[in-house]
Amino acid sequence: MQSIALRHLKDGDEVGLVPTMGALHDGHVSLIDKSVRNDDITVVSIFVNPTQFGPKEDYLKYPRPFDKDAEICRKNHVDYLFAPSANDMFPPAHKTFVEVQTMQDVLCGRFRKGHFRGVATVVSKLFNIVMPERAYFGMKDFQQLKIIERMTKDLNVRTKIVACPIVREKDGLALSSRNSYLSPQERKAAAGISKILKESSKRFNGKNKVSVLSAAIGKLGKIPGSKIDYVEILDFATLSVPDMNSKKFVLAAAVWIGKTRLIDNVSL
Ligand code: PAJ
Repeated sequence: MQSIALRHLKDGDEVGLVPTMGALHDGHVSLIDKSVRNDDITVVSIFVNPTQFGPKEDYLKYPRPFDKDAEICRKNHVDYLFAPSANDMFPPAHKTFVEVQTMQDVLCGRFRKGHFRGVATVVSKLFNIVMPERAYFGMKDFQQLKIIERMTKDLNVRTKIVACPIVREKDGLALSSRNSYLSPQERKAAAGISKILKESSKRFNGKNKVSVLSAAIGKLGKIPGSKIDYVEILDFATLSVPDMNSKKFVLAAAVWIGKTRLIDNVSL
C-alpha cells in the first residue's frame, strides 16, 4: 500500500483516505462520496483495530462482512481497499503508541481506558502508510475527530482532516455498525437518544448547562433498557469544561441500550 501511495504522490495525484473498521453503512459511504468528489484517488481502509478495544469489549464479535464491504467500495468508486491483518499492523514486536493527553481521558475515554491511544496509534500508522492529502472522519465520533485534529497539528502531519456530518436513520438514530446488535424493541428505544439530545440542544442558551443536562439525564434514563455512561456539554474546540471564552459547544452522550453501547452528539 505504501509503495502504491508513493507512486501516486510522485505522479502528483491527491490521495484521500477513509479509515474504517468495515461493516460499511451509509455513514461511511458519505465519507467515501466526499473523497471521491475531492480527491484523485480514494483509499478506504478496513481494519478492526485490536488496540482500541478493551479486554471486555466486542473485538471478536465486531461484524466483518468483508465481501459485502468490498462490493460497497466497488459500487462507490473506491480506487483501493486496504485491509491489512492484525498481525501486519501490530506484530508482537510492536512497541510504539500515540497518546493525545487530556482529550483522551474525557467522555468515552473515561469508560474505555486506552481506546483513544489505540485509535491515535492506528490512524498515525494509516497516515504513514497511505500518505493522504486528506482524511475523512465523521462527527458521529466527535471525540475521535477532535483527537485526530489535535494529533495532526501536534505531530506536524501534512494530511488535512475533513469533518463530515452525522448520517441518521429517518427516526434520528445515528447510523452505526453496532446498531446491528439491537433487537427490534431495542432499535425502537434507541431512537430516543437522538430525539432527547436534539430537544435538549434547543433548550441550551450557553448558561443553563446544569439544568439542560439534568433534564436530559432524566429523559434518557426513562428509555427502556437504558444505562447512561455520560451526558456532557463541553467546549466544541477543546473538549474541556466550557468557560467564559467558549463560543461553540457539543452535547455528547453514551448510552447503553441492553448490551449495546451507543454514542451520539449535537453541536450547540
Ligand atoms: P468506524 O466506526 O468504522 O467509523 C469509520 C468512520 O465513519 C469514522 O470517521 C466515523 O465517525 C464515521 N461514521 C460512522 N458512523 C457515521 C455516521 N452515522 N455518520 C457519519 N460518519 C459516520 O471510527 C472508526 O471506525 C475507527 O475508530 C477508526 C477511525 C477506523 C480507527 O480504527
